[in-house]
Formats: sequence, C-alpha cells, structure tokens
Amino acid sequence: MSKQGDRKIILGIAGLGTVGAGVVKIVERHVGLLADRAGCAIEIRAVSARDRSRDRGIDVSGYDWYDNPVDLASPESGVNVVVELIGGSDGPALALAREALGRGIGFVTANKALIATHGKELAALAEEKGAALKFEAAVAGGIPIIKALREGLAGNAIASVRGILNGTCNYILTRMEREGLAFDDVLKDAQQLGYAEADPTFDIDGIDTAHKTAILASLAFGTEPDIENLPTEGIRTIAPVDIEYAKELGYRIKLLGVAQHTDEGIETRVHPAMVPTRAAIANVMDATNAVVVEGDAVGQTVYEGAGAGEGPTASAVLADILDVARGVGGPSLGIPADRLKASAPVPVEKHRGTYYIRLRVGDRPGVMADITKILAEENVSIESMLQRGRADDGGVYIVLTTHETVEASVAATLDRFTQLDCVLETPTMLRIEA
Ligand SMILES: NC(=O)c1ccc[n+]([C@@H]2O[C@H](COP(=O)([O-])OP(=O)(O)OC[C@H]3O[C@@H](n4cnc5c(N)ncnc54)[C@H](OP(=O)(O)O)[C@@H]3O)[C@@H](O)[C@H]2O)c1
Repeated sequence: MSKQGDRKIILGIAGLGTVGAGVVKIVERHVGLLADRAGCAIEIRAVSARDRSRDRGIDVSGYDWYDNPVDLASPESGVNVVVELIGGSDGPALALAREALGRGIGFVTANKALIATHGKELAALAEEKGAALKFEAAVAGGIPIIKALREGLAGNAIASVRGILNGTCNYILTRMEREGLAFDDVLKDAQQLGYAEADPTFDIDGIDTAHKTAILASLAFGTEPDIENLPTEGIRTIAPVDIEYAKELGYRIKLLGVAQHTDEGIETRVHPAMVPTRAAIANVMDATNAVVVEGDAVGQTVYEGAGAGEGPTASAVLADILDVARGVGGPSLGIPADRLKASAPVPVEKHRGTYYIRLRVGDRPGVMADITKILAEENVSIESMLQRGRADDGGVYIVLTTHETVEASVAATLDRFTQLDCVLETPTMLRIEA
C-alpha cells in the first residue's frame, strides 16, 4: 500500500486544445506536489479530442484515447474525475457533463457557456448523485473568483460584483486609448497577434462576458444562472472620440459585467462603461481581468490577474481537481440547486445611474435650446456639458454627463434627440459606473 493509501484521482480529459494541453503539462510536471496537496496520487488515464494525429506539444501516447468524449465517463474507462475542456453550451460538453454527473463522477470544467446555460440542471444532478461539479476556470481564468464568492466571502450579503471579464476587449480598449486607434484597426491587429479569435463575436459583442456575469450573479445572489435575460452590449460602437472625452472627464471606458443588488431587485448587465480613473478597475489594462466585490461585512475586495491563456486557465482547473481530491464539497452554486431563486432581473430601463451622452450637431443658433428643452421635459438633469470644435463636415460635438436618473428617461431623451434636424448622427450613450 502506498504512503497515501490506495485512493487515486484518475482523470479523463476531454479536449486537448489550449487549456487541455495546459492541464496535461501541469499534471505531468507537478506529480509530487499535487499528490502531497491532494493527499492522494493524481494521474491521467484517458483523453479525448477530435484529431488523434495533431501535434499538441504533449505526448498523449501513454493515455487511453477516446474518439467520443462521453465514453470517458463510462465504467470501462476507470476514470473517476472527468475534466471537460471542449467548450460550447450544448453538444459533447453537455452530454459528457450529464453522463459523468449522472454516474456520480466528479466533473471539472472551464466552460462558462455550459454553466451559464445549464448550471442549475447540472448542479441539481451533482447534488442528487453526490458528485462534485467545479468550474473555477469558467470565470476570469486564473483568478480564483468562484472560490472567493462561494467560500471566502460566504459570510457576506453581497451588494455587487463588477468585473472586467474579457481579456480581448480590455486589450482592444487599452490599445485604442494608448494609441488613439479606431476599433477596427486594433481588432485586426489583435487577431494577427493572437489576442482575438478569427471570429471575435463572442468576445467583442459581450457574450463571453455575459456568460461569466450570469455565473457570478448566481453565486453572489443565490439565483439561477440566467443568460437569457441579461442585457448585453459589446464594444464595437466605441469610438476614439469617446475614449478622448472619457479621459477629459476623468474616466476610462471598460467593458464591464455587473451584478448588483438594488432597491428594485437584482440587476445584471454587460456593457461598456465609463469608470472613474481613480477606481481600481479603471487601471486594469491590456488583457488582464479584474473583479471587484462589495460585501456587507468585508467591504470591497479586488481580484486581478490573467483571465485566459494556457497556464492561468489550467491553474484554475488544477485547483478544482485538488478540491475534488480533498473532498472540498458543498453546493456548486453556493446554495443547494433547489433553493436557487428564479432569476427575475430588473429590466435595464429601470437602472438608475449617471450617463454620458455625445451628440454631433449642426452648429447653428437654437441647438442648445432644443437639447436642453428635451432634457428638462424628460427629467434628465445635466451635471456637465461640453461643446467641442468643428468636426470636418461642419458639425460639432456636444458631450454631456447627467446626474442620477432612470434609464427609461435617458432612452426617451435619446429618441427625441435623434428626431431633431440638427442632430447629425445617432447619439452615443455610455453608462457611468462609480
Ligand atoms: N483558452 C482560454 O484561455 C480559456 C480561458 C478560460 C476558459 N476557457 C474555456 O476552456 C474550454 C476549452 O478552451 P480552449 O481554448 O482550450 O479550446 P480549444 O483550444 O479550441 O480546444 C478545444 C479542444 O476540444 C476538442 N474538441 C472539440 N470538439 C470535440 C469533440 N466533439 N470531441 C472531442 N474533442 C473535441 C478539440 O479537439 P482537436 O484539438 O482535435 O481539434 C480541442 O482539443 C472552453 O470551454 C473555453 O471557453 C478557455
């Protein structure tokens, strides 16, 4: 009998791409360290991917190969913890999750789409079967934010969670600001440098951030993960001129995922926001992620680090594997799945906050009067107003920030601005997050 007994964690790894290969490397590199921390040996028994002949920079010839990842969870495989690193909310990832958890086998995943979409079902299945369901790598890569919310801050009523959760977007916004470049130019460059996917839709349209926000909201507020009712805006419409005005006004533009307790209920939303430059989250640059949590007892805590990439993501997967090995349990979404409240997010029209509005208008008498009349009639009170230069075609920019108001009023104001003859293009609106 070995020093640590006969108990062993026998891994089956589905997906050998960026993260899967990273996990294999760590398990092979840190055999002794992981065994000491787990209290038992951890070994890889079986793997699955699409293309057996692909060079992955790792030698998988010593592991059993499965063409169908779902077979990793079969009794014949001998696997007792399945690690899903394929991706996608449905398809093989979901089939594998159902098979593994249904058989009472531990299931570790980095798949935010899967947890955001089927989190409640999978958590319920895990609890029914007494199996572990872990997903630390699904949100903010190497930052242990799931553990922080589920364990470290478990004694707090959470007021808000705000995060820069997508490295690609933060990288693009950072370069737009530093180099004064347009969105499309930075995106092209980011694709060439490998910071953005060939199809960047999930990242730049905010969908990836929405998946992560749905998971954070569930953990923070004990609600079902709900991706369907999460208002989501990306960064395609951010113009260099808004980045410049943000700077002039003392802000930076960041794509944020927000889950917040308000008088109306729980707000969840994803959108670019103006963040005061003095705020911790405003100073998170390049591809770095950060999450700021407000708890009633602890106050503000800030978490920052690499949100993606082979090493950071594999690091989070290993933390989950060790938790399974150590028997660190508890409900995967923080409270038992049958006690998760139905998600009933506050409609974004009810959001109360301050706003940045930019208009391009024809420079003629009476314009200001028209604009201020609409603002007054819609009960939107102005905090500051700037008029800047002559644009190439004779228009000028009017930039204003508001005092706290309700979003429905801002939306009505923007509608009415758009109808004015003097307004030359669709107005830009950004929420300001204190
Ligand atoms: N990359 C990151 O930085 C990062 C960060 C956080 C979370 N994640 C999450 O981690 C997961 C994996 O991401 P990744 O970047 O490692 O993806 P990836 O590089 O595209 O790798 C995906 C892997 O899944 C395999 N695969 C796809 N369809 C399959 C199927 N039907 N059967 C078996 N294997 C299949 C692929 O096989 P082939 O290699 O043979 O094509 C590949 O090895 C995703 O859920 C992602 O959202 C990634």
